[in-house]
Amino acid sequence: MGSRPILVTGAGGMLGTSIVHMLGDKYHRPVIGLSHRSLDVTHAAAVEAAIRHYRPAAVVHCAAKTAVDACETAVDETFRVNTWASRLVAQATARHGAELVFISSCGIFPNAVRPFHEDDVPAPRTIYGHSKRQAELIIATENPRTYIIRPGWLFGGQSGHSKNFVYQRFLEAQRVSVIRSVIDRFGSPTFVDDVSRAIHQLLETRQYGLYHVANEGMASRFEYVRSIVNGLGLQTPVVPCSAEDFPRHASVPVSEALTSRNLDRAGLFPLRPWQDALGEYLNQSRAEWRI
Ligand SMILES: NC(=O)c1ccc[n+]([C@@H]2O[C@H](COP(=O)([O-])OP(=O)(O)OC[C@H]3O[C@@H](n4cnc5c(N)ncnc54)[C@H](OP(=O)(O)O)[C@@H]3O)[C@@H](O)[C@H]2O)c1
Repeated sequence: MGSRPILVTGAGGMLGTSIVHMLGDKYHRPVIGLSHRSLDVTHAAAVEAAIRHYRPAAVVHCAAKTAVDACETAVDETFRVNTWASRLVAQATARHGAELVFISSCGIFPNAVRPFHEDDVPAPRTIYGHSKRQAELIIATENPRTYIIRPGWLFGGQSGHSKNFVYQRFLEAQRVSVIRSVIDRFGSPTFVDDVSRAIHQLLETRQYGLYHVANEGMASRFEYVRSIVNGLGLQTPVVPCSAEDFPRHASVPVSEALTSRNLDRAGLFPLRPWQDALGEYLNQSRAEWRI
C-alpha cells in the first residue's frame, strides 16, 4: 500500500471515528478522516476533488443516512446519500486506482430468526435496507477492487455520540425505574473497534468481496440491554416486551444477526463473541462514565 493514505468518509460518525482512531493510532497507517462538514459525498465534484487530492490507497466509505425510521419518509434523500453517492465514491476510487471499502447493512434479510451469512439471499424490507442493497449491487461493478462490509448492531465510540446505544442505556437506567426491551428482535451486537480491526486485516488480503463483520452470536434486544445494565452493575430491572409495544415506521426484519463464511475463506478469524467485546467496552468506559 506504500504511504498512500486510507481516506474515511463520514469520519465524524460512530464507526468512522473508530476507523480513523484504530487505523491511525493503533495500526500506524496514514489516515485522512473527512467528516460530513469536510466532504458531502452527494457532491460529485467534491468527491472527485478529495480523491484526486489525497490519492488514497483505499477509501472506507462510512458516510450514510442511518436513521432507519426517518429514511421511510425521506425516500429520495435516502437513495441520494446511500446509493447514488456511494456510486460516485466507487467511480472516483476506480478512476484514481484506489480500493473501496463500502459499509453496508445487516438489516436486509427476510424474516427468519437466525443469523445470516454471506450466501443468504437478501430481501430488504425497509427503504434504508433497499438503499444499501442497491448500492452493494452498483458499486462492485464500478470498482472491482471493493470490499463490501455488513456490520452487526454497532456499539462503541464516544459517549457523546447520539448513536452510542450502550451509553444511551446507561443514561436510561439512571432515569427510569424499569427498562422495557424488545425480546422478539435479534441482532449481533458488534464493537466498532472490532470492525475497524477486521477492516485493517481485510485490506491486507486483497480478497475483494462480501464480508459479514459482526461479533459472534445472536442476541435479542432484551438480552443485549440486560447485559449492558448488569455489566455496569446497575440495579434497574430490565423486563421483556414485544416489538408490537414499540411500533416503528420501518418494517425492520425480525433478525439482523450475522455470521460469516467469507472471513474464514479469506483466511481470517471470526470476531470474538459479542459478550466479550461488550465487556471490554464497558470496562473501558467505567472511568469516563464515573461508575
Ligand atoms: N449503527 C449500526 O448499528 C450499523 C449497523 C450496520 C451498518 N451500519 C453502517 O455503518 C456506517 C456507519 O454508521 P454509524 O453507525 O457510524 O452511523 P453515524 O454515526 O450516523 O455515521 C454516519 C455518518 O455519515 C455522515 N453523513 C450523512 N450524510 C452524509 C453526506 N451526504 N456526506 C458525508 N457524510 C454524511 C453523518 O454525518 P451527520 O451526522 O452530520 O449527518 C455521520 O457522521 C453507515 O454506513 C451505516 O449504514 C451501521
